[in-house]
Amino acid sequence: MATVLVTGGMGFIGSHTVISLHNNGFDVVIADNLSNSKTEVLNRLETITGKRFKFYKVDCCNKEELRKVFEENDIDSVIHFAGLKAVGESVRMPVEYYSNNINSLLTVVTLMNEFGVKKIVFSSSATVYGESEDVPFTEESPLGTCTNPYGWTKWMLEQVLRDCSVAYPELRVCLLRYFNPVGAHESGLIGEDPRGIPNNLFPYISKVAAGTLEKLTVFGNDYDTPDGTCLRDYIHVCDLADGHVRSLNYLATQSEGVSVFNLGTGKGTSVVEAIKAFEKACGHEIPHVFGPRRAGDIPVCYASTDKAREVLGFEAKRTIEDMCSSCWNWQTKNPQGLPED
Ligand code: NAD
Ligand code: UFG
Repeated sequence: MATVLVTGGMGFIGSHTVISLHNNGFDVVIADNLSNSKTEVLNRLETITGKRFKFYKVDCCNKEELRKVFEENDIDSVIHFAGLKAVGESVRMPVEYYSNNINSLLTVVTLMNEFGVKKIVFSSSATVYGESEDVPFTEESPLGTCTNPYGWTKWMLEQVLRDCSVAYPELRVCLLRYFNPVGAHESGLIGEDPRGIPNNLFPYISKVAAGTLEKLTVFGNDYDTPDGTCLRDYIHVCDLADGHVRSLNYLATQSEGVSVFNLGTGKGTSVVEAIKAFEKACGHEIPHVFGPRRAGDIPVCYASTDKAREVLGFEAKRTIEDMCSSCWNWQTKNPQGLPED
């Protein structure tokens, strides 16, 4: 059974991916410093899968700590989720974002070289396409200018991995550009658990629906879109998790090089449509007001899904209704999020 090191595996996307890996016959080792997640995730994963996953509380920037994980396990491949991801926070704390996101990947790649590990899947983002309005984004769309340090870290780290694949020809790399991951596992035991007031649409809507927050402000309704609000390609986190398993299986068939895949549904949903879908899921109205545009938002962002379908056989199966109902299930079962450590 091949062992996959999942860095950041206690987080939102990582924890759902751990389940998919387990269900597809992979052995999983998790490394996470819990800077944006809680130990309780491990208990929840055990309830869902019946398996207590091997977990190391380590900072991936700390080479000595992380070396132990490589020494103690026969690691076949790495999925690297570990990173800071809040756009607004990255503007206020650029040094922390560049330092954490860049050093953690460099440390992982250094140890992969030291221990002869040849396959890595990296969490990138549609943010690398910048502010272009030329949609849908294909993997060949030009990379754009990012509007915040978080986005630049993804842009730079894609380049770091391209350079590494030239220098270390046996390295096989998958760059996965996620669009907007939302939703939660059907059990309602794990989901997105942001600290404080959420910045992203779905966690914010969930809290308004639950009555924890008073109302949602829709950022702009004067865009050149059918209802004036921005369109995004929301993808269910469980579909996204499946994309990671397919990427690992694909890397096993490759002998070198970098492959890039968009992971989205190929469909744009407006903020107003998302609110309506959530209202259907929770059974009552979501109080909202229209406010000014948010700096850095582009009107329309959705993926071309052709390459992922043709090469990986990947197709997102779950609908926006599935995303809302699973989000609501998670929210109602965990109104305060997961218990603190
Ligand atoms: P998350 O914050 O829920 O998970 C990230 C995990 O990494 C957390 O558990 C955190 O504790 C851990 N971590 C951070 N820095 C670490 C370090 N130095 N060492 C060890 N662990 C560390 O975020 P997520 O939504 O699951 O995102 C996972 C990855 O996908 C991130 O790299 C993120 O940038 C990327 N991504 C996310 C989105 C999104 O909308 N959620 C979109 C595109 C890309
Ligand atoms: N929105 C609101 N009100 C809110 C929050 C969001 O109207 O309170 C709107 C935004 O203006 C945007 C849409 O909802 O039109 C989605 O916003 P999110 O913040 O949920 O997501 P973004 O598309 O802005 O950003 C996401 C990830 C980033 C990633 C980017 C591109 O959060 O990490 O997609 O992949 F960089």
